[in-house]
Amino acid sequence: MNCNEIINKLKTTQNADKDELIYLLDNITDDERETLRKNAQEVAQERFGNKIFIRGLIEISSFCKNDCFYCGIRRSNKNAVRYRLSAEDILSCCDKGYALGFRTFVLQGGEDSHFTDDMLCELIGEIKQRYPDCAITLSLGERSFDSLQRLYNAGADRYLLRHETACKAHYERLHPDGMSFDNRVNTLYKLKEIGYQTGAGFMVGSPFQTTENLADDLLFIKKLKPQMCGIGPFVPHKDTDYRDFEHGSLELTLTLLSIIRLMNPDILLPATTALGTIDFRGRELGILHGANVVMPNLSPSEHRKDYSLYDNKICTGEEAAECLVCLKNRMRSIGYEIVNSRGDYRQLNNKEK
Ligand code: 5AD
Ligand code: FES
Repeated sequence: MNCNEIINKLKTTQNADKDELIYLLDNITDDERETLRKNAQEVAQERFGNKIFIRGLIEISSFCKNDCFYCGIRRSNKNAVRYRLSAEDILSCCDKGYALGFRTFVLQGGEDSHFTDDMLCELIGEIKQRYPDCAITLSLGERSFDSLQRLYNAGADRYLLRHETACKAHYERLHPDGMSFDNRVNTLYKLKEIGYQTGAGFMVGSPFQTTENLADDLLFIKKLKPQMCGIGPFVPHKDTDYRDFEHGSLELTLTLLSIIRLMNPDILLPATTALGTIDFRGRELGILHGANVVMPNLSPSEHRKDYSLYDNKICTGEEAAECLVCLKNRMRSIGYEIVNSRGDYRQLNNKEK
C-alpha cells in the first residue's frame, strides 16, 4: 500500500497494521501530510465542531522521587527549585479558574509522597464540594492501586499517566533501573478498570526513539483505548543527561496527532504546551491537525518557572487570565472557540470494524 492508501484505510477502518504505520511515518510526502491533516481535522470537527475544551492545569509540586533521564524535575537535578502548593494555594487556583470559566482542574505534580492519600482525598472532596459541576483530573504519576481507588472514591474523575513509550527496551533507556515499564502499563489498565477517564501518551522524538517505537505507541493507544492521549515533542532540559539531544520535530508531532485522531475518532487530544514551546503557532497547528483540547496554566505565577520539565517552557511569566485570553485569541484566529463545559469523553457512532 502507498501512503494515500494507508491514510484512506486509517480513515475508513480506524486501523492500520504496524508495517503500514512505519511505512507511512517514514515515507509521507508534504501533499500526503496535507491529506492526512484534512481528514483528521474533519473527523475532529464531526465530533466537536469548532469547539475547543480547556483544562486548568495546576502544578502542585515540583518534588519528585523519580529520576527520569529526560525530565527537568528529576530527583537528581540539584539545580531544580522545589516547591509544593498548600491545600489553600490549590483551592485558590481553583477559585480563580472557576471564575474564568474552567470546569476541569488538572492537579499535576512530580511523584511527591508529601501528598498522602488522606490529604488528596480531603482536597478532592473540598474541590468537589465547592464546584460540583467541575471535573477533577489527577496527574501525579504512579501510585498504588489502593491509592488510585481511594482517590477515585473521593471524587477524582480522570487520571493522566503517559506511558512515555510502548517499547520496554526504549522505556528502559529513558528511565533508571528502579522504574518499571510493566508497572506503568499495568497502572494504566488499572486506572481504566477503576473507572477513571484515563489519559496515556508519549513524547515525540525522545532520545533513541525509532519509527518502530512510534508505531508501537500508536498501536498501544489503539489497544488500551484511553479516553485521552497527551503527546508533545521531547524538549531537552539543560540539567539532564539528554541536554544535547534535539527537540522532537514539529512536523512529526503533527503527523502523529492526525494519525491518533483517525485511529481514535472520539479521543480527547490536547495541543500541548510542549508543542507551543517548539513553535510559536504549535498549539494552533495541533488543533488544525485534529487536536481538540488546550490546557492553560492556572498555577500561581511565582512558582511557574520552577515546574520546569524542559527548557524554554512557554507561559511561565503569565497570569492565568492572560493565558486564557491569549489562547482564546489564538483559537479564534483559526476559526475555533473555547468552551466552558467539562468536556467529558463521549463516544459517538462506533464505526469500528
Ligand atoms: N520534554 C517533553 N516532555 C517532557 N515531559 C517530561 N520531560 C519532558 C521533556 N524534557 C513530559 C512527560 C511527562 C509529562 C508530564 O511531561 O511525557 O509524562
Ligand atoms: Fe499562556 Fe499564551 S497561553 S501566554
